[in-house]
Amino acid sequence: MRYPDEIIEEVRQKNNIVDIVGSYVKLKKTGSNYMGLCPFHNEKSGSFSVSESRQMYHCFGCGVSGNVFTFLMEYENYTFVEALKVLAEKAGVTLPEREETAEGKRRADERNAILEINKEAATYYYYNLRNEGAKAAQNYLLGRKLTPETIKSFGLGFSGKGGGELYNYLKGKGYKDEILKESGLFTFDEARGVYDKFWNRVMFPIFDVNNRVIGFGGRVMGDGKPKYLNSPETKVFDKSRNLYGLNKARQSREKYMLCCEGYMDVISMHQAGFTNAVASLGTALTGLQAALLKRYTDTVILTYDSDEAGVKAALRAIPIFREAGITTKVLNLKPHKDPDEFIKNEGVEAFKKRIEEAENSFYFEIRVLEQNFDLNDPDGRTKFHNEMAKKLLVFTDEIERGNYIEALAAKYFISAEALTKKVNGYGAGYINPAEPARSSGSGQESSTGGYKKKKTGEEGIKESQRLLLTWLLDVPGLFDSINGIIDENDFVTPLYHTVATSVFEEYRNTGKVSPARIISLFESKEEQAEAALLFNTTLSGEKQSKEELELSITETVKKVKKNSLDYESKKASEEGNMSAFSDIIKEQAKIQNIKIRLKQTEDNYNG
Ligand code: UTP
Ligand code: MN
Repeated sequence: MRYPDEIIEEVRQKNNIVDIVGSYVKLKKTGSNYMGLCPFHNEKSGSFSVSESRQMYHCFGCGVSGNVFTFLMEYENYTFVEALKVLAEKAGVTLPEREETAEGKRRADERNAILEINKEAATYYYYNLRNEGAKAAQNYLLGRKLTPETIKSFGLGFSGKGGGELYNYLKGKGYKDEILKESGLFTFDEARGVYDKFWNRVMFPIFDVNNRVIGFGGRVMGDGKPKYLNSPETKVFDKSRNLYGLNKARQSREKYMLCCEGYMDVISMHQAGFTNAVASLGTALTGLQAALLKRYTDTVILTYDSDEAGVKAALRAIPIFREAGITTKVLNLKPHKDPDEFIKNEGVEAFKKRIEEAENSFYFEIRVLEQNFDLNDPDGRTKFHNEMAKKLLVFTDEIERGNYIEALAAKYFISAEALTKKVNGYGAGYINPAEPARSSGSGQESSTGGYKKKKTGEEGIKESQRLLLTWLLDVPGLFDSINGIIDENDFVTPLYHTVATSVFEEYRNTGKVSPARIISLFESKEEQAEAALLFNTTLSGEKQSKEELELSITETVKKVKKNSLDYESKKASEEGNMSAFSDIIKEQAKIQNIKIRLKQTEDNYNG
């Protein structure tokens, strides 16, 4: 279910974009706009502009644009609904309850109750760490060189020695056994009664991306076994789709993420200023975790332990990331075991250097592979080359594969030709010809290849619709000029059709259009971004004369109209609707006579 448009619009209107953006970015008023440093790319001079009248932002440097909702979605990585909720609360707007089935509601209530218990438990452990009886735990953490700020920021705590303290505490707060059982924090034993699962351990609350406590890891202070005890999976704790530290790392402005194995590694890296570090939750990396990370980054630097287990884990993780569309590099921690030890011994600068030197994950894979063969022995070398050739098949893009072949050939005593032959021998026909190069969207066609041509044509059609919409918003009086010639129904690309419907309707009702409102019609970040483009496309760097502009608009209107009629005629012929068909043919004949005249008399217009 979607929230009603009026509510979304009310929330948008009650949150001034200048205030919202201003709470994250330092803005300075210049002319009618506000300017600041773009929070979405690195820059030294401010190209980020916020328009109060349009209620939109736009960066002239990196091209991002949008309204209050997209800003929070981009900055905080919120979903649309999350952004809506935050802004509704800020503005004091009550959102209607979403309808739910009785069973759905029961499950949601149960999850909420478990989350509440987790939060109570985290608070309990947290304060417990500050008690007299927690001296050993305090000393343990300080001994591991954690500062009080870090301890606080990660919400670390201590589970007492009694074995039933948390249980009694929560019972005292009125929680029933039934739900306490579901939290995974207790052991219910027929004979011996109920016990706290975590006992005499330093507690690491595990947060989801929305900062809710979903589970715990508890570490023994010293050498006991198991080193870490973790919450079991519960209705709110799924180890395969969460990452430790991501609630913080997602706020990092760094382009890449650091992915490691341990809780302590994450904390240590954050303390050292690498606030883009995350870890899986005591299990091997999963595809769901890779997909989750992909929401925030395209590049991961693996900082797994340098021991054999860490190398194995890295070799398992690399293809999972590759599958998710993430480029991976591998950081060398030697001679230290893990990031925590490395930073403690070598310091921040040395770690930064290792980040810069992180190795391309494919080179890493090949380097590890190489260790299984004796390259001084011709047999060993041949076997190694064969295995390397097989591995090269992961690259489906011909150029990318070619680049790797050349680089590896130079490195491992084989000619590029010979290696290419080998690769092709293993994977004849493997190259994926359907991988199209991205078209420039200019609508101009220079290359052969049917597939590409079709795609470019589509881009051209989209471009025309996009241009026309942008003009409608920017050129005064254009709505009247095109009246009776073209309307919202001629925009056939779904996203533009939605925008056009809304733009025309608003114009008919009020005589003007509000761009920021239109963006809110879409929930996904991608669609919002595409819609926002409409309102920030600079049509032409140079000023155009009225005649030139009329010509450009006329050409574009013709294109959009033609495409719309083609679409209609295809539909009519599919439906066998002959009368519609003949109408369409008449309309098509009229296209060549279209001439758009602008009523405005100003001598130029600027996009
Ligand atoms: P490590 O043994 O490398 O732990 O296990 P660590 O995080 O570096 O901690 P310190 O520095 O030794 O205190 C890596 C991760 O594997 C999981 C935990 O998530 C841990 O952070 N693990 C490890 C367990 O779940 N249980 C264990 O007994 C050991
Ligand atoms: Mn470790």
